[in-house]
Amino acid sequence: MSDILELTGREEAPAAGNTRKVFVKTYGCQMNVYDSQRMADALGADGYVETASPEDADMILLNTCHIREKAAEKVYSELGRLRKLRDRRRSDGGEMLIGVAGCVAQAEGEEIIRRAPVVDFVIGPQTYHRLPQIAAEARQGNKVVETDYAMEDKFEKLPAHDEQRVRARGVTAFLTVQEGCDKFCTFCVVPYTRGAEVSRPVHQILSEARRLAGAGVREVTLLGQNVNAWHGEGADGREWGLGELLHELAKIDGIDRLRYTTSHPRDMDDALIAAHRDLDCLMPYLHLPVQAGSDRILKAMNRKHTADEYRRLVDRIRDARPDIALSGDFIVGFPGETDADFEDTMRLIADVGYAQAFSFKYSPRPGTPGADMDDQVPEDVKTGRLHRLQALLDEQQAGFMKGLEGRTISVLLEKPGRDPGQLVGRSPWLQPVVCDENVGKIGDIVQVRITRASANSLIADNSEVEIPA
Ligand code: 5AD
Ligand code: SF4
Repeated sequence: MSDILELTGREEAPAAGNTRKVFVKTYGCQMNVYDSQRMADALGADGYVETASPEDADMILLNTCHIREKAAEKVYSELGRLRKLRDRRRSDGGEMLIGVAGCVAQAEGEEIIRRAPVVDFVIGPQTYHRLPQIAAEARQGNKVVETDYAMEDKFEKLPAHDEQRVRARGVTAFLTVQEGCDKFCTFCVVPYTRGAEVSRPVHQILSEARRLAGAGVREVTLLGQNVNAWHGEGADGREWGLGELLHELAKIDGIDRLRYTTSHPRDMDDALIAAHRDLDCLMPYLHLPVQAGSDRILKAMNRKHTADEYRRLVDRIRDARPDIALSGDFIVGFPGETDADFEDTMRLIADVGYAQAFSFKYSPRPGTPGADMDDQVPEDVKTGRLHRLQALLDEQQAGFMKGLEGRTISVLLEKPGRDPGQLVGRSPWLQPVVCDENVGKIGDIVQVRITRASANSLIADNSEVEIPA
């Protein structure tokens, strides 16, 4: 998945009776954001409400990311800070359970409790439906580690979205349709932490999407580590891919915008490309990581395609949907990467043109083939390459943003802005757009004219807004 996020807890109105409070901190990709919400839902059935302040939480849940070394180290420093918080709470006569979920939990298991004894339970991404029982056991004073792979059950056993909670979360929602990865890129821990590719059945996806729409959601982002590898038996009895699924989702009343992330170039099939041409509600934005532009490095990464195959794929996608904006992930300093290989990556970026991108220095992950390869690239070389690559990507992003100035675009209004009188929404290409509150209300899709673009957001000209009937 894309960029590393760090999201801290949110506040929920306490329910009547004897409620407990849970503070959830989410690291990593959007799939973790989705999982955190589902864990909160599972705990909700057990009487927990979410709190935004860790100080008064009865349970702290860290939903972790293991993709790069720094991400895992952050979790351990956070656990150090939490120990002090828990001790303070105990000295006030209270109690606080501390749980670690997500990919660090899956990868490290019991090691987490050895290294951070403050942790009460460790729970891998395939066992979240068991959270209430695990919490009950931990409340008895037992340490619990649950990192089984029971994927078939995961989606089935998670509680349905709670309508009230969905409403409180806003007009956009994530929906996981696929999990795991069989691609085994040689730099990546995901196939080891999230397990094999599993697609969620069509009927579950459609019923969750309908429930979201019923609770006021207007934009759904389908999630999967390899979302475009999704496949399943369709309502017509035929084998569907993501293209067919998107067509079906587009029929649901109330859902006006669809997105999906994150994709592998090898899984962009004809039906999916055609969906970008045929479905207006499929937003013209595609995160399509290539990682590197040198065939030698792509091969060493086990990406199983060449740089030119990627260029041709992009051409076909742009033929189908000319206004599509591309985003990507790049790794610099993969073992054996020479200056010439790096120049190939720079050339690919220059040829393709990205509206947005995430880029990283290669970080060796224990247990992956890349970590044992010879010719690891020195840190200072990686740093130098990353700076050059990011300068080019920043320039492309700024160019894309500038190109929107003066244009009238559609914006889904999502939330109040930072200043009074503002509403913030998203453009079709995912940028936040700051609008005047008079343009409409949260949940409306409005047409606004962009007057100014900053590095990461757009400002709408509020005097010329048109609100569709
Ligand atoms: N080192 C650096 N970046 C990595 N990514 C995945 N594994 C590594 C690693 N070992 C990046 C890839 C991927 C994104 C989610 O994180 O670019 O697409
Ligand atoms: Fe990791 Fe590659 Fe799978 Fe993406 S496709 S999750 S980078 S192994």
